[in-house]
Amino acid sequence: MGAKAGWPGAITWGAETIGDTIQVTRGSIPREFKFIGKPPQWWAFMNTAGSIKPINPRQITSPERLEEVVRKAKEAGMPVVGANISEGENVDAWVNDALAAEKGGADFLELNYSCPYVPGIGLVIGVNLELQRAVIKAIKDKCGLPVMAKLNAALSTETLIESAKGCVVAGVDAISTTNAIAGSMGVDIETARPHACDLDETGKLSMLSGGVSGPAIKPIGLRAVAELRSEVDVPICGIGGISEWESAVEYMMLGANVVQLCTAVMIHGFPIIKGLVSGLEAFMERKGYRRIEDFVGIVSKKYPIGAFGVEKQPRKMIIDEAKCTGCGLCLRACEASYSQLGEYAMRIEDGLAKIDYDRCLCCNCCMFACPTGAISVEWEPAYSK
Ligand SMILES: Cc1cc2nc3c(=O)[nH]c(=O)nc-3n(C[C@H](O)[C@H](O)[C@H](O)COP(=O)(O)O)c2cc1C
Repeated sequence: MGAKAGWPGAITWGAETIGDTIQVTRGSIPREFKFIGKPPQWWAFMNTAGSIKPINPRQITSPERLEEVVRKAKEAGMPVVGANISEGENVDAWVNDALAAEKGGADFLELNYSCPYVPGIGLVIGVNLELQRAVIKAIKDKCGLPVMAKLNAALSTETLIESAKGCVVAGVDAISTTNAIAGSMGVDIETARPHACDLDETGKLSMLSGGVSGPAIKPIGLRAVAELRSEVDVPICGIGGISEWESAVEYMMLGANVVQLCTAVMIHGFPIIKGLVSGLEAFMERKGYRRIEDFVGIVSKKYPIGAFGVEKQPRKMIIDEAKCTGCGLCLRACEASYSQLGEYAMRIEDGLAKIDYDRCLCCNCCMFACPTGAISVEWEPAYSK
């Protein structure tokens, strides 16, 4: 279906097969509250939470099955097929999966170092930097396919960068980020039953958390791409919460060379590709971009990123009195941010916000709280634009 709908490529799920994706997913996630929040802005989806066993009998559990799935996808006409593989500490098992994918006709491998919930695989490898590199080297030694390492943005900046750089040194051809983020979808407070979780036959919850995906995690994926762009010199595949073309452009402007979507296709169906492509094309025409490369990473080319907020601090908060209505929301933000100090910098005087600069720490909270845009920040000269 994906190939017919016009998708340029597909990646197998370690957990599901291409043809059966939707059914298998529904079978392994709860019947209710698959997603929380209102489409299209910030909804979230959680997979595998509450499933009695994370491993479903129809999952790809053997290299032979992976080979078959990849072959089926190629035969169905999917132009590019990536094989997403994930194993534990057994490096030979990774290599066997890689070879099976190659035999099935895969165009590249995606090493899943980032699944947030399956015990013993995924994110466990994502924090074992030595093992990550060993896997890459072993695969590169035996298998001719290009390799992309999939990292989870829920790592600290330092670990994420160290992990990505290590993968590049070990020989990966690309990095993708992010996988789903471990999370819990909340609780129905009337029944005290967690959302998006199933009970087993004895009434026990098997898992309270799962992999959260969809637009709610977009800021997390964007941050990972932005941080990695200036650190690694290989293509980056941006993933997380893309459900319309604008989000794909955001990922690309922050440095993603290509993007992946998962949840949005499950919710809206394969035909969403048409709107994504036409929206992107119209945008590129309007802006005079001839190729994707014209705007990949444009943010960091236009604005220096890196020292922001670390070496240089905002110098001063400025109030535009013509825009200030004296509503006091800035004062509330200031009180809440600095209540631990027992003092704050904002006050309302003669119907206007005023700042006590001796107390102001330039935290920016007033600026974000202001509904009329009356507060701005004066940066150190090098970062003023
Ligand atoms: C039901 C489901 C199954 C997934 N299975 C895998 C998997 O097997 N391997 C993997 O690397 N990522 C897997 N993911 C993560 C997605 O590929 C993607 O990284 C994540 O959902 C964020 O993107 P999205 O917001 O577009 O869904 C899965 C996600 C969902 C929702």
